[in-house]
Amino acid sequence: MLTMFSVKGKVALVTGAAQGLGESMIRLLSEAGAHVIACDINEAGINRVAAQIHTDFPDASCEPIKANVTDNADVARLMDYIAHHYGQLDICINNAGVLERGPIEDMSLQAWTRVMDVNVTGVFLVSKYAAQLMIEHQRGGSIINMSSMSAQVVNVPMKQAAYNVSKAAVSMFTKSCAVEWAPYGIRVNALAPGYIRTAMTGPDFEAGGQFEPLLDWIPLKRLGEPADLGGATLWLASDASKYVTGSIVAIDGGYTLI
Ligand SMILES: NC(=O)c1ccc[n+]([C@@H]2O[C@H](COP(=O)([O-])OP(=O)(O)OC[C@H]3O[C@@H](n4cnc5c(N)ncnc54)[C@H](O)[C@@H]3O)[C@@H](O)[C@H]2O)c1
Repeated sequence: MLTMFSVKGKVALVTGAAQGLGESMIRLLSEAGAHVIACDINEAGINRVAAQIHTDFPDASCEPIKANVTDNADVARLMDYIAHHYGQLDICINNAGVLERGPIEDMSLQAWTRVMDVNVTGVFLVSKYAAQLMIEHQRGGSIINMSSMSAQVVNVPMKQAAYNVSKAAVSMFTKSCAVEWAPYGIRVNALAPGYIRTAMTGPDFEAGGQFEPLLDWIPLKRLGEPADLGGATLWLASDASKYVTGSIVAIDGGYTLI
């Protein structure tokens, strides 16, 4: 039964891997025996994380590669490299994302565009080239996109319209890809986390922080931790979810239920 959850020997790409949820995912997949390609624009960050993984798990295979998910040529180069050096891509996790906060009436076009570029166009570009590789080299694979509970609810009191819209787009893109690529055996799903403790959430949820009172609105009564995404990541990445595609999996402590 547990072998269904195995990702041993699979080739996995994770974007936004230099910190936060991406870092947690590449640690998990490396420990589970996958060949992991850790991508980020923050080269020093992915080098540090990959070195730490090799110290902690001496048998791990984790290669850091700098790439900007919004840059077409960069993404094409990354996939070419994976094709030549690994010969396949089994798991692709579109995790890179950015957040801008502020009232809509004051939001600059630059801030709006930055969020759409990374959160939407980046997911499109990486998915497009990943699917080409999966179709050409093995007919099959699992793509996991990082959506958010913000795709479904307007978080208050934060004002983050661009982010919310971008994550709604990620959820719909996930469903569109799932239908288009089902004939190739490529499954496409998304995770929709609630508030998880990372640099993106920042110190506002800690004791005394401006958003600490929001923890009361979470039925499980706590902030999520990056490791809380581990089980669902392994499930969606592996054959344990082989009949699951187009799903948006909430990991929010029940926040979106009430
Ligand atoms: N932390 C949360 O509470 C939460 C909740 C819901 C969804 N998410 C989503 O999860 C993902 C990870 O969030 P996090 O909290 O770990 O964020 P984070 O800010 O800690 O990490 C994001 C990473 O993405 C990288 N990145 C940004 N732009 C990039 C680009 N153009 N190309 C390549 N890499 C780029 C950054 O360098 C960084 O390492 C994001 O998509 C975020 O929207 C986070």
